[in-house]
Amino acid sequence: MTKTPTSRLDKLLANLGYASRREIQMLARNGHILLDGAPILRADTRIALRPDLETRLVVDGEALDPLPGVALMLNKPLGVTCSHKEAGPLVYDLLPTRWRRRDPAISTVGRLDKETSGLLLMTDDGALLHRIISPKRHVAKRYRARLARPLTGGEAELFASGTLMLEGEEKPLAPARLEILGPQEAILQVHEGRYHQVRRMFAAAGNHVEALHRESIGGLALPADLPPGAFRRLGDIDLAAIFAETGSGG
Ligand code: URA
Repeated sequence: MTKTPTSRLDKLLANLGYASRREIQMLARNGHILLDGAPILRADTRIALRPDLETRLVVDGEALDPLPGVALMLNKPLGVTCSHKEAGPLVYDLLPTRWRRRDPAISTVGRLDKETSGLLLMTDDGALLHRIISPKRHVAKRYRARLARPLTGGEAELFASGTLMLEGEEKPLAPARLEILGPQEAILQVHEGRYHQVRRMFAAAGNHVEALHRESIGGLALPADLPPGAFRRLGDIDLAAIFAETGSGG
Protein backbone atom coordinates (compact mmCIF):
# COMPACT_ATOMS: atom_id res chain seq x y z
CA MET A 1 0.00 0.00 0.00
CA THR A 2 1.36 3.48 -0.83
CA LYS A 3 1.90 5.83 2.07
CA THR A 4 -0.25 8.99 2.21
CA PRO A 5 2.02 12.00 1.50
CA THR A 6 2.20 14.68 4.16
CA SER A 7 3.07 18.37 4.11
CA ARG A 8 3.75 21.02 6.70
CA LEU A 9 0.64 23.18 7.09
CA ASP A 10 2.47 26.42 6.25
CA LYS A 11 4.05 24.94 3.11
CA LEU A 12 0.75 23.43 1.98
CA LEU A 13 -1.19 26.69 2.31
CA ALA A 14 1.61 28.87 0.91
CA ASN A 15 1.77 26.61 -2.17
CA LEU A 16 -1.99 26.84 -2.56
CA GLY A 17 -1.57 30.63 -2.73
CA TYR A 18 -3.18 31.57 0.60
CA ALA A 19 -0.37 33.74 2.00
CA SER A 20 3.33 33.69 2.86
CA ARG A 21 4.50 31.02 5.31
CA ARG A 22 5.01 33.75 7.90
CA GLU A 23 1.43 35.02 7.50
CA ILE A 24 0.16 31.44 7.75
CA GLN A 25 2.02 31.05 11.06
CA MET A 26 0.07 34.06 12.36
CA LEU A 27 -3.26 32.72 11.06
CA ALA A 28 -2.60 29.38 12.79
CA ARG A 29 -1.48 30.99 16.05
CA ASN A 30 -4.66 33.09 16.09
CA GLY A 31 -6.88 30.02 15.68
CA HIS A 32 -7.98 30.73 12.08
CA ILE A 33 -7.10 27.26 10.78
CA LEU A 34 -9.24 24.33 11.90
CA LEU A 35 -8.88 20.61 11.28
CA ASP A 36 -12.02 18.62 12.09
CA GLY A 37 -13.24 21.67 14.01
CA ALA A 38 -10.16 22.02 16.26
CA PRO A 39 -7.57 24.79 15.74
CA ILE A 40 -4.11 23.82 14.50
CA LEU A 41 -1.99 26.32 16.39
CA ARG A 42 1.40 25.35 14.98
CA ALA A 43 2.12 25.98 11.31
CA ASP A 44 4.82 23.29 11.26
CA THR A 45 2.22 20.57 11.97
CA ARG A 46 2.41 17.82 9.33
CA ILE A 47 -0.87 17.20 7.56
CA ALA A 48 -1.77 14.03 5.66
CA LEU A 49 -2.82 15.00 2.13
CA ARG A 50 -5.90 12.81 1.82
CA PRO A 51 -8.65 13.88 -0.59
CA ASP A 52 -11.09 14.41 2.29
CA LEU A 53 -8.80 17.14 3.66
CA GLU A 54 -10.71 19.57 1.44
CA THR A 55 -13.76 19.15 3.65
CA ARG A 56 -11.93 18.76 6.97
CA LEU A 57 -9.52 21.70 6.86
CA VAL A 58 -11.05 25.16 7.20
CA VAL A 59 -9.05 28.36 6.66
CA ASP A 60 -10.56 31.63 7.82
CA GLY A 61 -14.03 30.07 7.79
CA GLU A 62 -13.75 28.56 4.28
CA ALA A 63 -13.20 24.97 3.14
CA LEU A 64 -9.71 24.29 1.78
CA ASP A 65 -9.04 24.88 -1.92
CA PRO A 66 -8.46 21.83 -4.13
CA LEU A 67 -5.29 19.94 -3.23
CA PRO A 68 -2.56 19.67 -5.87
CA GLY A 69 -3.60 17.28 -8.62
CA VAL A 70 -6.63 19.35 -9.61
CA ALA A 71 -8.14 19.17 -13.10
CA LEU A 72 -10.80 21.50 -14.51
CA MET A 73 -12.88 22.04 -17.59
CA LEU A 74 -13.55 25.62 -18.62
CA ASN A 75 -16.03 26.84 -21.20
CA LYS A 76 -13.63 29.28 -22.81
CA PRO A 77 -15.37 32.40 -24.05
CA LEU A 78 -14.28 34.29 -27.14
CA GLY A 79 -11.70 37.03 -26.64
CA VAL A 80 -9.64 35.51 -23.80
CA THR A 81 -6.10 34.23 -24.28
CA CYS A 82 -4.56 30.93 -23.15
CA SER A 83 -1.41 32.49 -21.77
CA HIS A 84 0.05 33.39 -18.39
CA LYS A 85 1.63 36.60 -19.57
CA GLU A 86 0.00 38.25 -22.59
CA ALA A 87 -1.85 41.55 -22.34
CA GLY A 88 -5.64 41.53 -22.21
CA PRO A 89 -8.04 39.07 -20.59
CA LEU A 90 -6.54 35.64 -19.85
CA VAL A 91 -8.23 32.32 -19.14
CA TYR A 92 -6.55 32.37 -15.73
CA ASP A 93 -8.55 35.49 -14.85
CA LEU A 94 -11.64 33.25 -14.90
CA LEU A 95 -10.37 31.20 -11.93
CA PRO A 96 -10.50 32.33 -8.28
CA THR A 97 -7.73 34.90 -7.68
CA ARG A 98 -5.90 32.74 -5.15
CA TRP A 99 -5.65 29.86 -7.63
CA ARG A 100 -3.39 31.99 -9.81
CA ARG A 101 -0.75 31.92 -7.06
CA ARG A 102 -0.59 28.14 -6.75
CA ASP A 103 2.64 26.16 -6.99
CA PRO A 104 2.50 23.89 -8.95
CA ALA A 105 0.65 26.30 -11.21
CA ILE A 106 -2.54 25.43 -13.03
CA SER A 107 -1.93 25.46 -16.81
CA THR A 108 -4.06 24.91 -19.87
CA VAL A 109 -3.88 21.51 -21.54
CA GLY A 110 -2.86 22.75 -24.99
CA ARG A 111 -4.35 26.02 -26.16
CA LEU A 112 -7.32 27.46 -27.94
CA ASP A 113 -6.92 30.61 -30.02
CA LYS A 114 -8.20 33.85 -28.56
CA GLU A 115 -11.10 33.73 -31.04
CA THR A 116 -11.96 30.05 -30.43
CA SER A 117 -14.52 29.12 -27.77
CA GLY A 118 -15.41 25.90 -25.99
CA LEU A 119 -13.92 23.08 -23.98
CA LEU A 120 -10.56 23.87 -22.43
CA LEU A 121 -8.94 21.58 -19.86
CA MET A 122 -6.68 22.95 -17.15
CA THR A 123 -4.56 21.13 -14.58
CA ASP A 124 -1.56 21.40 -12.27
CA ASP A 125 -0.75 17.74 -12.92
CA GLY A 126 2.04 17.63 -15.50
CA ALA A 127 1.75 13.87 -16.05
CA LEU A 128 -1.98 14.17 -16.78
CA LEU A 129 -1.36 17.10 -19.13
CA HIS A 130 1.19 15.10 -21.10
CA ARG A 131 -1.05 12.04 -21.26
CA ILE A 132 -3.82 14.13 -22.83
CA ILE A 133 -1.67 15.91 -25.40
CA SER A 134 0.64 12.98 -26.22
CA PRO A 135 0.22 11.98 -29.89
CA LYS A 136 0.58 8.34 -28.77
CA ARG A 137 -2.70 8.55 -26.85
CA HIS A 138 -4.58 9.63 -29.93
CA VAL A 139 -7.14 11.68 -27.97
CA ALA A 140 -9.66 13.11 -30.45
CA LYS A 141 -10.65 16.78 -30.39
CA ARG A 142 -13.92 17.79 -32.04
CA TYR A 143 -14.37 21.32 -33.37
CA ARG A 144 -17.50 22.89 -34.81
CA ALA A 145 -16.56 25.35 -37.57
CA ARG A 146 -18.65 27.96 -39.35
CA LEU A 147 -17.18 28.74 -42.73
CA ALA A 148 -17.06 31.86 -44.86
CA ARG A 149 -17.85 29.93 -48.06
CA PRO A 150 -19.87 26.80 -48.90
CA LEU A 151 -18.02 23.48 -48.76
CA THR A 152 -17.16 22.23 -52.24
CA GLY A 153 -17.35 18.47 -51.65
CA GLY A 154 -13.70 17.39 -51.64
CA GLU A 155 -12.84 18.49 -48.11
CA ALA A 156 -13.70 15.27 -46.24
CA GLU A 157 -11.49 13.21 -48.53
CA LEU A 158 -8.66 15.72 -48.36
CA PHE A 159 -8.71 15.84 -44.54
CA ALA A 160 -8.97 12.03 -44.26
CA SER A 161 -6.12 11.42 -46.70
CA GLY A 162 -3.20 11.63 -44.28
CA THR A 163 -1.27 13.52 -46.97
CA LEU A 164 -2.44 17.10 -46.38
CA MET A 165 0.58 19.31 -45.78
CA LEU A 166 0.12 22.63 -44.01
CA GLU A 167 2.12 25.60 -45.20
CA GLY A 168 5.57 25.78 -43.61
CA GLU A 169 5.42 22.23 -42.21
CA GLU A 170 7.38 19.14 -43.16
CA LYS A 171 5.11 16.34 -41.97
CA PRO A 172 1.64 15.71 -43.40
CA LEU A 173 -1.34 15.84 -41.09
CA ALA A 174 -2.70 12.62 -39.67
CA PRO A 175 -6.11 11.67 -41.07
CA ALA A 176 -8.95 13.78 -39.68
CA ARG A 177 -12.69 13.26 -39.97
CA LEU A 178 -15.11 15.84 -41.34
CA GLU A 179 -18.83 15.65 -40.61
CA ILE A 180 -20.83 18.08 -42.71
CA LEU A 181 -23.68 19.76 -40.86
CA GLY A 182 -24.71 22.25 -43.52
CA PRO A 183 -23.33 24.13 -46.55
CA GLN A 184 -21.10 26.30 -44.34
CA GLU A 185 -20.96 24.34 -41.10
CA ALA A 186 -19.04 21.21 -40.16
CA ILE A 187 -17.48 19.26 -37.31
CA LEU A 188 -13.81 18.44 -37.72
CA GLN A 189 -12.26 15.77 -35.53
CA VAL A 190 -8.48 15.82 -35.24
CA HIS A 191 -5.98 13.90 -33.12
CA GLU A 192 -3.13 16.39 -33.30
CA GLY A 193 -2.68 19.85 -31.83
CA ARG A 194 -0.73 21.82 -34.39
CA TYR A 195 -0.71 25.60 -34.33
CA HIS A 196 -4.05 27.00 -35.61
CA GLN A 197 -4.62 23.55 -37.06
CA VAL A 198 -8.32 23.70 -37.88
CA ARG A 199 -8.18 27.19 -39.37
CA ARG A 200 -5.14 26.23 -41.46
CA MET A 201 -6.79 23.01 -42.66
CA PHE A 202 -9.81 24.89 -44.00
CA ALA A 203 -7.49 27.54 -45.47
CA ALA A 204 -5.63 24.73 -47.28
CA ALA A 205 -9.01 23.69 -48.72
CA GLY A 206 -9.61 27.25 -49.98
CA ASN A 207 -12.03 28.27 -47.25
CA HIS A 208 -11.94 30.46 -44.16
CA VAL A 209 -13.13 29.67 -40.62
CA GLU A 210 -15.41 32.41 -39.30
CA ALA A 211 -16.24 30.80 -35.96
CA LEU A 212 -14.65 27.89 -34.13
CA HIS A 213 -15.85 26.06 -31.02
CA ARG A 214 -14.37 22.95 -29.38
CA GLU A 215 -17.13 20.56 -28.36
CA SER A 216 -15.22 17.63 -26.89
CA ILE A 217 -11.88 16.08 -26.01
CA GLY A 218 -11.89 12.26 -26.22
CA GLY A 219 -15.21 11.16 -24.78
CA LEU A 220 -15.56 14.26 -22.59
CA ALA A 221 -18.03 16.78 -24.01
CA LEU A 222 -18.61 20.34 -22.89
CA PRO A 223 -21.80 20.15 -20.79
CA ALA A 224 -24.73 22.22 -22.05
CA ASP A 225 -25.24 23.68 -18.56
CA LEU A 226 -21.70 25.13 -18.26
CA PRO A 227 -21.98 28.74 -19.45
CA PRO A 228 -19.14 30.58 -21.23
CA GLY A 229 -16.57 31.72 -18.69
CA ALA A 230 -17.55 29.10 -16.10
CA PHE A 231 -15.44 26.15 -14.99
CA ARG A 232 -16.03 22.86 -13.21
CA ARG A 233 -13.69 20.42 -11.49
CA LEU A 234 -13.15 17.09 -13.20
CA GLY A 235 -13.72 13.86 -11.31
CA ASP A 236 -12.39 10.37 -12.01
CA ILE A 237 -15.29 9.59 -14.37
CA ASP A 238 -14.58 12.72 -16.46
CA LEU A 239 -10.87 11.90 -16.60
CA ALA A 240 -11.60 8.34 -17.69
CA ALA A 241 -13.94 9.72 -20.38
CA ILE A 242 -11.10 11.76 -21.92
CA PHE A 243 -9.24 8.55 -22.68
CA ALA A 244 -12.28 6.43 -23.51
CA GLU A 245 -12.59 5.28 -27.10
CA THR A 246 -15.11 7.60 -28.70
CA GLY A 247 -15.75 5.12 -31.52
CA SER A 248 -16.05 7.87 -34.10
CA GLY A 249 -12.90 6.98 -36.03
CA GLY A 250 -10.90 9.63 -37.87
N1 URA B 1 -7.42 24.84 -34.36
C1 URA B 1 -7.43 26.18 -34.52
O1 URA B 1 -7.25 26.66 -35.63
N2 URA B 1 -7.64 26.96 -33.45
C2 URA B 1 -7.86 26.47 -32.21
O2 URA B 1 -8.06 27.24 -31.27
C3 URA B 1 -7.86 25.08 -32.05
C4 URA B 1 -7.63 24.28 -33.14
